[in-house]
Amino acid sequence: MPETLTPAPVLSVPEPFMGPLPRGCTFAESDWRILANFWFPVAVADKVRDQPVSVTLLDQKLVLYRTSQGVTAANDLCLHRGVPLSMGWVEGDNIICRYHGFRYGAQGQCLEIPAHPGAAIPPKLCLQTYPTQERYGLVWTCLSGRPAAPLPALPEWDDPDYQSALPEPIDLKATAGRQLEGFLDVAHFAWIHDQTFGDRNNPTVPGYDVEKTPTGLRARYRSTVGNYLRQEESTAAPEDGVLRTFDVYLPFTARLTIDMPDGAKMLILDSASPVSARHTRLFPPLLRNYDKDQPVEPFIAYNNQIFNKDTSIVESQYPEDLPLNLLDEVHIRADKTSIAYRQELGRLGLGLTYTT
Ligand code: FES
Ligand SMILES: [Fe+2]
Repeated sequence: MPETLTPAPVLSVPEPFMGPLPRGCTFAESDWRILANFWFPVAVADKVRDQPVSVTLLDQKLVLYRTSQGVTAANDLCLHRGVPLSMGWVEGDNIICRYHGFRYGAQGQCLEIPAHPGAAIPPKLCLQTYPTQERYGLVWTCLSGRPAAPLPALPEWDDPDYQSALPEPIDLKATAGRQLEGFLDVAHFAWIHDQTFGDRNNPTVPGYDVEKTPTGLRARYRSTVGNYLRQEESTAAPEDGVLRTFDVYLPFTARLTIDMPDGAKMLILDSASPVSARHTRLFPPLLRNYDKDQPVEPFIAYNNQIFNKDTSIVESQYPEDLPLNLLDEVHIRADKTSIAYRQELGRLGLGLTYTT
């Protein structure tokens, strides 16, 4: 009997979301309609308290506010005269518009028009709201309201064996695709990160494997590049090597698990939230299972030093869009993950309009 090969499950291509495009949308329409189907982080959860917060995702301006039911995300626009609701304030479970005091409930419906007490309120006076989740210290939302994939997995965030840290979000004048690919790139450690964990004398990239997963990709990369500050004693080049596992959650999130030979583990969730086509807000929750009694500030500062170096490169790349046609840039063997990443973004239907 010939063996039947079952293809590995991969992320299904989402149906384009046919909702209204944001005014002044900077994305190609076909890209926006695909990207609207995914969860993206939009704020640090602790920053959404009793004041409304204004954020932007995929060019859509949103107001976030906290009620007894969690965080509400709605279009940041009062339906009366177009004033941002983020200029207003929160009372209990309601948000109040600063201009004429319209009161909206947690589901978006208008509950009160102070100029006409008791008058009927038109049903269309209801804000467009979006689903939210609070995970890993972040607020996530999905503009289509029908997410094509679950949130990226980071169960260690709630594991007492790990210390968690949440750096401030990092704003990049760059596309989310370029940022995420830079996070997956293993050949740049020796060159860009020589002041932290990389080593100019150790630039070789050993071969490694990449496989498709139901959420995107998994790459397992073993090398002798450590992950502590090189000046520290513990950076002695590990004989067994350090294993870096990159789990990609399409389109713009990846989790990096760094397994060091002494059992130490560091995890970084690199979640690139597309504010607009040329502006990305990076949310990078961090975890470690060592030095747990130490303050988190140096841990955050060390990783920020690394992210800042990456940002300077990513902001300078041309073309700004990640070229999904593999013929548009030249690839080397070390680029195995980024080649697969570009192919997967293309399979989802992104980049149809990219040109060099
Ligand atoms: S503009 Fe918001 S109540 Fe009038
Ligand atoms: Fe880097």
